[in-house]
Amino acid sequence: MDFPVEKLINAALAARERAYAPYSGFRVGAVVLTREGRCYTGCNVENASYGLSCCAERVALFKAVSSGERDFQAIAVTAGTEDFCAPCGACRQVLAEFGPHIDVYMANGRGEYRLKTAAELLPEAFGGGAMAAKEGGPAGKGNVSRLIEPVNR
Ligand code: THU
Repeated sequence: MDFPVEKLINAALAARERAYAPYSGFRVGAVVLTREGRCYTGCNVENASYGLSCCAERVALFKAVSSGERDFQAIAVTAGTEDFCAPCGACRQVLAEFGPHIDVYMANGRGEYRLKTAAELLPEAFGGGAMAAKEGGPAGKGNVSRLIEPVNR
């Protein structure tokens, strides 16, 4: 990664300060780094209807994608705790959508981290390629987030 890891983790720790987690009390921060070096932060946002809560990683990713980004090199996540914070299964699937190559820095509150790729965290992921192979679907395999253009473009 051509970006200082400490900077990325510090941005995730800062984003964590904005977490809205009155129900779990578990505050998480994340930051995604685009191939071109832009950062998008996220924190978990909970709801009284618990199932509507959204993890920090997905908030960061959705902010980035809705800002026009598709090409990511890394994501850092931290809960500011002793333990390294690993993304939940749903976030792993969302990450995998944008590339198995994405580096996932799972950090603790001291800025230490474990590093794995999205593919390592979600082996044999379900991907859009499976649907692209269906009859009448777009030909080819690969990253559907790049293959299929949205209908409103
Ligand atoms: N959470 C995240 O934001 N990211 C993770 O990687 C794990 C869990 C949030 C969801 C919920 O608001 C709280 O942490 C407790 O699960």
